[in-house]
Amino acid sequence: MTDPKRYLITSALPYANGPKHIGHLAGAYLPADIYVRYLRAKKKDVVYVCGSDEHGAAITIQAMKEKTTPKEIVDKYHAMLKSNMADLGISFDIYHRTSEILHHETAQEFFTLLNNHGDLEVKESEQFFDTEANTFLADRYIVGTCPVCSSDNAFGDQCEKCGTSLSPDELINPRSTLSGNTPVKKLTKHWYLPLNRHEDFLRKWILEDHQQDWKANVLGQCKSWLDIGLQPRAVTRDLDWGIALPADVEGGKGKVLYVWFDAPIGYISATKQWAIDNEKDWKPYWYNDDTKLVHFIGKDNIVFHAIIFPVMLKLHGNILPENVPSNEFMNLEGDKMSTSRGWSIEMDDYINDFVKKENGGDQMVDALRYYLTAIAPETKDSEFTWKGFQDSVKGELVDVFGNFVNRAFVLMHKLCKGKVPPLHSDILDEADKTLFAELTNTKVRIENLIESYKFRDALFEVIDLARKGNKYMQDKEPWIVAKQVGDNGQPTLEAQKSIDNCLHICLQLTANLAVFVNPFLPFAAKKMCHMMKVVDKILDWENAGSTKLLSVGYSLREPQLLFRKIEDTEVAEQVEKLKLKSQQIKMENEKSQSVGAASSTEAQLSNAADDKKVIAEINFDDFAKINLKVGTIVTAEKVAKADKLLKLEVDMGTEVRTIVSGIALHFSPEQLIGQQVVVVANLAPRKMRGIESNGMILLAEDKSGKLHFVSPTNVIDNGSGVS
Ligand code: MF3
Ligand code: ZN
Repeated sequence: MTDPKRYLITSALPYANGPKHIGHLAGAYLPADIYVRYLRAKKKDVVYVCGSDEHGAAITIQAMKEKTTPKEIVDKYHAMLKSNMADLGISFDIYHRTSEILHHETAQEFFTLLNNHGDLEVKESEQFFDTEANTFLADRYIVGTCPVCSSDNAFGDQCEKCGTSLSPDELINPRSTLSGNTPVKKLTKHWYLPLNRHEDFLRKWILEDHQQDWKANVLGQCKSWLDIGLQPRAVTRDLDWGIALPADVEGGKGKVLYVWFDAPIGYISATKQWAIDNEKDWKPYWYNDDTKLVHFIGKDNIVFHAIIFPVMLKLHGNILPENVPSNEFMNLEGDKMSTSRGWSIEMDDYINDFVKKENGGDQMVDALRYYLTAIAPETKDSEFTWKGFQDSVKGELVDVFGNFVNRAFVLMHKLCKGKVPPLHSDILDEADKTLFAELTNTKVRIENLIESYKFRDALFEVIDLARKGNKYMQDKEPWIVAKQVGDNGQPTLEAQKSIDNCLHICLQLTANLAVFVNPFLPFAAKKMCHMMKVVDKILDWENAGSTKLLSVGYSLREPQLLFRKIEDTEVAEQVEKLKLKSQQIKMENEKSQSVGAASSTEAQLSNAADDKKVIAEINFDDFAKINLKVGTIVTAEKVAKADKLLKLEVDMGTEVRTIVSGIALHFSPEQLIGQQVVVVANLAPRKMRGIESNGMILLAEDKSGKLHFVSPTNVIDNGSGVS
């Protein structure tokens, strides 16, 4: 499409069934955000939608694991995902959710239209049924041996080991995840989307029309699907969690829409809600063919966005996506990233460990955005390592980009009185002209790269420009030129002119860098605007390439630190944390399998959510090393920027101790005053959020996860020993 009137950009709706890791971020969210920020800077009409995917077995199974209801699960994780994304600068115009009524209605309307047009087929067939749990088994409710790779934990819809998409019938030795029993077959009725009717259309649309502009990995997957031949796909399920079939559908009672039918329609309902909130018309975004629709997804979502949803859209009368950019996978420290195995970095953890820290903040968001883009698995799998993160931040952000900007500012303050110096055109030399020319060249290159979804190379262009700036400054050596002084001790006229030109050019370059870096590292761009004392408007893309962004004589602020180094200790801590987490989960899984209940729901589903730690036996001497004492909480207050922590003052009889405790989500500060507690009094002091904590309070956790203080049954003297 040459000149779209408007853009609708989507990122895959994450399942609200748990925290999401940085591999997800790098796959479907960060690239989309960069693209959208770029389009906004170009003043395009763009709407960026996303939301939580709240239906399907992914949710109900997590609810079983956490021994709670699906509703509680989606509420909890929707809130977490929404705030994580915002913290990481992902700038959705709306983050909606599929449990909203508006979405239910939209999905039902969609189904009705297709059904009334005869675009769906209804078939009765035998499906697996669990007689004990009294329910049909589909998708993740059934596991068995994968016919392709022989993994014995393949799901009814997909083998996670080899990635093959499956149907329950293909599983060898199928068993129910609910009871562990071998299921029986039972007759049931379902609605199918006959993809086979649309093969010709898909072949032409994907393999011919988009042969040039879609990524090779996407085209490759589509081609192999088409070559195998498409089958009708069931779009309904016998479940009680999901969107009910419209009430007037005969025989639809007790059935819900298949999650992969309703979820992508979530893009439409999100657009509708955005339009309501902003008094806009949503329809042109989904019906006018001068809209450019782009779905950013992870590679496990390709078939749904390139084949199934487009067929649905076509039947429903909507526009089709222009592109479905999808990345390969990002591995982590030599292994596949996986939340369930504990081998992952959750967004939430990164935010807590780096962003909401004293030496953290937005610059640590940009640091992560930088590294994830720099190692984006755009064409092949890539690997995140903490050491790589450290090296990349130091080598490129700190030493190249940050260093250039900082030097330009420091020298301008030192040699040009804190103002943008004039440009003396009579002494412009080749180096000056080349650098100026680089601004426009870089702009053109970045545009081409971003518009063809090559964000990694686009970002390297930005760093390269900063690198050229550093080289230019190094060659010009204004600090040496400044030593050519006249009788008055000031640089000679000629020397000052040369200094002026160098810094004038470096400062215009800095302003350009802010424009260029803005889609990628928005927080750094903002900080640079502050330093240059200019409004964000300067970041408009039309300013890129300009040599006149800062006016001569304008005084600028002192430089601020744009990026910081990642310390060796931080790298070591994170690597250790990763190992511990995965070991702990492994032990839990082994334990739950060895208790002989391998077939019970609980054992099958046991994972990180069950935090029964395996603790090694100790002898009495080990125990005797622990000094336990009774104390009373005298003050309690929240710790800034740490939603889990409370700072407590505990009267220990002979002294009052400061203890930082991770209980803020369980107790309000007021509730705690006067509470008697048992304290581990000889625990080595530890700094948390800059506060030294001296001891630990004992708590008991009940089955529901609620915490209770361990304390004497009657109030006794503070400082009393416990043994
Ligand atoms: N929740 C799905 C996943 O995480 C993605 C859904 S994308 C949508 O794999 F298009 F269905 F919304
Ligand atoms: Zn397999």
